[in-house]
Amino acid sequence: MAAEIKPLFVTKVYDSTPLPPLKAEAILQDLDAACAFIASEDRAGQQWSQAKAYKGYTSYGSLTDLTRRASAFADLKKILDGEIHRFADGLAFDLGGRRLKLDHMWINVLKPGGGHTGHIHPLSVISGTFYVATPEGSGALKLEDPRLAQMMAAPPRRADAEDGLRPFVYLHPEAGRLFLWESWLRHEVEPNRARSPRVSISFNYSWG
Ligand SMILES: [Fe+2]
Repeated sequence: MAAEIKPLFVTKVYDSTPLPPLKAEAILQDLDAACAFIASEDRAGQQWSQAKAYKGYTSYGSLTDLTRRASAFADLKKILDGEIHRFADGLAFDLGGRRLKLDHMWINVLKPGGGHTGHIHPLSVISGTFYVATPEGSGALKLEDPRLAQMMAAPPRRADAEDGLRPFVYLHPEAGRLFLWESWLRHEVEPNRARSPRVSISFNYSWG
């Protein structure tokens, strides 16, 4: 009997190639400097990070206007807008003539030992992270099958299972690379086991 085994209810993730070297060098240097400057100046963000036991610095709870604070972030937004558009097209979203818009962008300077436990990004459509500095061992992005809670009697997968069949998938960041996913997809940041901070910029896009 001929049969086809079809992938249904697919979870798509956008895994970019790194930026071309020349472009990456300029953008990453600017972003690295801008992140370091803001991390050293943003007292409210430092206090927020400390209060939330974030090991390092994040502007998540303190700043909502990164693209106006440094041209590096405005330049990054221009790149992201195009990539988000491409991903939304790949997801076959019918946006009714409207575009997805950047809702919030924030800096993560994650010190050695720091990680971020499993979470989703409520009230957004697409979320993602652009990596600025990823020292060796600074941890992967771990994605979780959203149907995990329903898999009560499901057998585990073989070691050679393709990514699309695994309950957890690990994406390995590198500087100049971008990952995008639908905001409901649960994910976590593995602990940074490098000797220096991992610097990244995360963001949410909403449909409004
Ligand atoms: Fe996240």
